[in-house]
Parts: sequence; structure tokens; C-alpha cells
Amino acid sequence: MEREVAKQKIEELREELNQHNHKYYVENNPEITDQEFDRKMRELMDLEKEFPEFKDPDSPSMRVGSDLNKEFEQVNHRYPMLSLGNTYSEEELQDFHNRVVKQVGSDFQYTCELKYDGTAIGLTYQNGKLVRAITRGDGTRGDDVTQNVRTIRSIPLKLKGDFPDEFEIRGEIFLPLKGFEWLNAEKEKAGEMPFANPRNAAAGSLKLQNSSLVARRPLDAYLYYMLSENLPAMSHYENLMKARSWGLKISPHTKVCRSIDEVFDFIKHWDSARHDLPFEIDGAVIKVDDIKLQQQLGFTAKSPRWAIAYKFKAEEAQTRLLSVDYQVGRTGAVTPVANLEPVQLAGTTVKRASLHNADIISGLGLHINDLVRVEKGGEIIPKITGVVFEERPVESTPVEFIKSCPECEAPLMRVEGESAHYCPNSASCPPQIKGKLEHFISRRAMNIDGLGAETVNLLYTRGLVSTLPDLYRLKASQLITLDRFGDKSARNIITGIRKSIEVPWPRVLYALGIRFVGETVAKKLAKEFTSIDQLANASEEDLIAVDEIGKRIAGSILAFFKSEANQKMIEELKTFALQLEANEENNNHQQASNVLEGKSIVISGKFTKYSRDQLKEMIEAHGGKNTASVTGSTDYLVAGENMGPSKLEKAEKQGVTIISENQFLELIGEE
Ligand code: IVH
Repeated sequence: MEREVAKQKIEELREELNQHNHKYYVENNPEITDQEFDRKMRELMDLEKEFPEFKDPDSPSMRVGSDLNKEFEQVNHRYPMLSLGNTYSEEELQDFHNRVVKQVGSDFQYTCELKYDGTAIGLTYQNGKLVRAITRGDGTRGDDVTQNVRTIRSIPLKLKGDFPDEFEIRGEIFLPLKGFEWLNAEKEKAGEMPFANPRNAAAGSLKLQNSSLVARRPLDAYLYYMLSENLPAMSHYENLMKARSWGLKISPHTKVCRSIDEVFDFIKHWDSARHDLPFEIDGAVIKVDDIKLQQQLGFTAKSPRWAIAYKFKAEEAQTRLLSVDYQVGRTGAVTPVANLEPVQLAGTTVKRASLHNADIISGLGLHINDLVRVEKGGEIIPKITGVVFEERPVESTPVEFIKSCPECEAPLMRVEGESAHYCPNSASCPPQIKGKLEHFISRRAMNIDGLGAETVNLLYTRGLVSTLPDLYRLKASQLITLDRFGDKSARNIITGIRKSIEVPWPRVLYALGIRFVGETVAKKLAKEFTSIDQLANASEEDLIAVDEIGKRIAGSILAFFKSEANQKMIEELKTFALQLEANEENNNHQQASNVLEGKSIVISGKFTKYSRDQLKEMIEAHGGKNTASVTGSTDYLVAGENMGPSKLEKAEKQGVTIISENQFLELIGEE
């Protein structure tokens, strides 16, 4: 394609994709199918690849994020980011109204909004382009999370219409309930701790160091407060409507109320209607609409005098505690779960509630058959907040935490200083075995293609697999006898298992499922102890010397290697050639050359020949230093596909030499 034609096509596609993004994410009213959208996006990306001179950081194709690690820069808020005064009672809301009337008279309107339960963000637009996104921080300074926010599809990168040259708009970033459930399911599959509620999930996602991970989380945002030296109108509501016309996402539930009674109606309506929303709100926000009056009312040190948040009470219900079940996780931790007489609460039927541990049970003084109070706060799983003692039946019996494992009958243990009870029988307690196998094969661990939790369950119940090494003994012929598998799928599983022996040492260590050894700890340990034998022989002192490893983790590692069953398992895994030590190749790289000595190199984007980790290792192997962010002292930026636009811009500004993957390989003599 000719250059000029390509340029025009690129522009058309960008415009079209921006419009479809707006239709889908802001208006909730898509016009084309996902496939059509993907096809157009592919077309745009192909053209941008072919004609890199038309690269644009604001292109819709750049919303995939970058997998660079970065610390967030702290920046000052241009206007302090204040909070809101809040109340739970109608009387206090009436008091607020009376105070306002006393100061400004009674001729004014309120704008009523929902109070989104997420994390606050301030977006700055200059000449219609999103240039900065800052978290609240301490109200004066916040984290610059622009790169992450740019991946949120409902936040436009470019505006349309008659916007002021410069303005800030504040809002709330949140994770809709569906997205929250999806994310937690993913986390559980990966053996990670799920988020307690959507708010934590949104805040946690926004602070991820890797914006391509943020891009995969279905975050959304509503905007609710515009600040500028050139506001388009002197009515808060009109400003929001203007903002909507520029493409910004303003809630359709924002409403002008002409009297305090209308405000009460708004609150009453949303106190029950909130359960039908696809996201969580924790109240309503009532704002004096006229900006002149807002200025007259002013601010206290912490919050505006012209607005107030009315918070909904956490919903509570009362029901009977029928029994307590005990669930055993993969690490042997035993969690008590209450079975309740089904009761309606916040729009759902509640039958179970988490009890967490023995201390919580004794703290509540729980008896079976007690009438209990159940609350659904920010958490998805309801909790028992108290007992109605007056209603305790005569024949009730106290809940006593079990003494032995409900699955294998081994006597339970409790480590001093910890609240959880454990089943110590990790070698033959069924849920522990199944849980360990599931963790071992999970994506972030050994990532065994074709094997999932269900298959592992089947393999275990049919007696084919009960230890990790058993997986490597499996034969396709055995799988075929399970009649669920055909020739091909059986062979795929076996290939997946064989391939997993290439998984590097830090991930193998994580896959072993040692209690408290998550991904980060595994990486730290694998760096310090370059083989499993070294780790097995480490003393408590050696372990604690490692950054971030405390007594609790050290104790768990020592206990793991002390177990004879685990020692046997490791010896067997060695015979299958798993990477139980740091890769030889990496070690060789360490002495490869010193052609990059003194050079500071940043890598960014996706590469075709090597992974980012491999490239990092190569830089170090040739004497260079890999750094995360571009500064004046950066020598090279190795640019891959889809690299972060701000990196590129910064590198260009600083006059850093930008090279491709191939040029880098030439530099170190590998090409
Ligand atoms: S207005 C100066 N409007 O709630 C006024 N805040 O508890 C600034 N929030 O800090 C805030 N929904 O993070 C406003 N419709 C809404 C809101 C809202 C949620 C959050 C926001 C604020 C916090 C106060």
C-alpha cells in the first residue's frame, strides 16, 4: 500500500475504533460484533507495524499496555484531592441542607449522584488529550498511574467537541461485579489469594507495575467532578453533560433534584435499586449544583461544604446457624464455613458464611441453632457479625472447632501465633493432594497444557496420579482407558507434561506449593539458592538473611524439606529432569562478554526472538545494566512491538539511541 493511502486508512480505522470503543464501553451500546472489532483492530495494528512512522501513542491499538516494570512517580495535585463528609442518617442530611440554606438561601438545586465504591482518580486533559492520571495519594500528592489508566477502554484518550484547553476531571475507577468474579476465579486457579471486594481489586489493579496486566482487567470508570480555570458552565450538572458530549463517561443516574425531598427520594430509590446495578455503590453523593454557591460555601480542611455523601447501611439479616463445615485447602489450612437457614440479603439468598478461624468462632461465642446476624458489607461472601443471645434456644450447643481433619482424620495442628488450624498429613490427605496437583499444573506454575482441575481430579480418583512425580509417569495409553480422552487429547496432555520440564527453576519452586511461598518469594529464594539442594540444606539463619523472608516463611520451608515424603518426591522429580536448579545457559551468559560494560539499557515492548527476561539476562551477561525507566543516562532503548508510548517519547526527547531486537543481537554478536 502506498504511504499516503496507508496514512489515511490508519486515521480512518483509528477514528472508527475510537467510536466503537465509546459505543461499547461508555454508551454500553455496541454497534458491531466483537469479531468485527477485532478484525479492524488487527488491520490497524498491521498497518501501524508496516508504517511505523505513523505510530501514535493515542492510537486505540496502544491500549494493550506495556509490560515494563516501573515504580510510580509521585506528582502534586494541581487542586488538592479532598474527601467528602459523610452521614448514615436522614437527620444529618437534613442538618446539612439547613446549614446550606442558612448560608446561601433556599433558591438552589442539588445534583445527586451515586457513590461508586472504587478508587479515586484525577484525569488531566490538555488540548483534548489525556496527559495524566493521578491517584488520590495523600490528597496533595498522588501516584502517576497514567500508563495503567490509558488501558481502561471507557476513558477516552482523545476528546471531541468544544472542550477547554486544559482541565481536570475526577472520578472513580471500579471493577464491575462480573469482572470481579472473573478476576477472583482466575486468581484462585493460579493459587493466589482472591481479592476481598471489588474496591480492593480495582485499587490493586491500578497499582500493578505492568500495564499489560492492567489492560486485561475489565476496569471501568465514572467521572463526577470537573476542575478548570475555564469551566464551560457555572452549573456542576451542565459541566458533566458537557463532559459527556466530549466522550467522557458520566453516569446516566446523575440527577438534578429541586428540593431536599427529591434528594430523599433519590436516596430511597437507590438504597434498594443498587442491588440491580452491575457494580457496587456504597451510597449517594449530594452536591449543590451552582458553582458560584459552591464557592460561597467553600471547604473545610478536609472536604467541601457544598457536598455530602449519604452512605447506605450494610445490609443485615438474621437467620439460624444450622451447622459448621470445615474445608481443607491445598496447604492443609482448615477453614470453617457456616451453613445457614437460607435468608434473603442484599438481593441474594445467603446460605453460607465464612467464619475464617477458631478465634472468630470463639469471639462470637457461637452455638449451633443460634439466631445470628449476617451482614454483607464490601465483601462478596457475607459474614456473621453477632449472635442474638436472647433468642438462643435451650438445647443449643457451643461450636467446637474440630480436632481432626474432616477428610483424613489426622489430628489437626496449630502453629503458635497463627490463627489457622492445619492438617499435617500433606502426603495422603485427598484435598491437599488434589490441591497441590492443581497448583502444580496451573498457568503461572508449570503451565501444563491440556490438564485442568477436573482432569487432575479424575486422575486422582482413578488412582493414576497421587504425587507430582506420578504426573511424569503417566502414559497416553492410561489416559485413553479413561474414555474421556481420544488419542489426540491424551497425547496432547502427555506432550504438555513433557514440555513442562523446560519451566525454569523459580517457577518450579513456586509450583511445589510450599506454604507461604508465592511467586514473589519463590523468585527471591531461587535467586539466592540456585538449586533445590542448596535450598534444602539452608538453615533458618540462611533463609532469614534473604530479603523479605521472615521466620514464618523460613519455618514453612524448613518443615517442607524435613518431611520424608517431600524428600522422596524431590528425588523422583530429579529423575524426570525438571529444572530444580538455575539454568546452565544463564550461568554461561554471565561470563559471555563485556561489550556492554557501563551501558545502561532499557527494554520495552514485545519481542519476537527472545523473551524479555532472556533479553535482560543477555544484557547482564554482556556486562550491561538493565534499567526500568528511560533517563538522561540511558544508552539504548531496545524497542519491541507495542512498547509504551511515554517511553518512546521520553527516549526521543533525551536523545537515547533506539534499537531493534536484531540490532541489539548484532551488538552482542549473536546475530
Ligand atoms: S465528589 C470535592 N462524587 O467517595 C468532592 N466523590 O468518600 C470530591 N466518590 O473521595 C468527591 N462517588 O473517591 C464524588 N459521585 C461521586 C463519588 C465520589 C464516589 C468517592 C471519591 C471521594 C470519596 C469520598
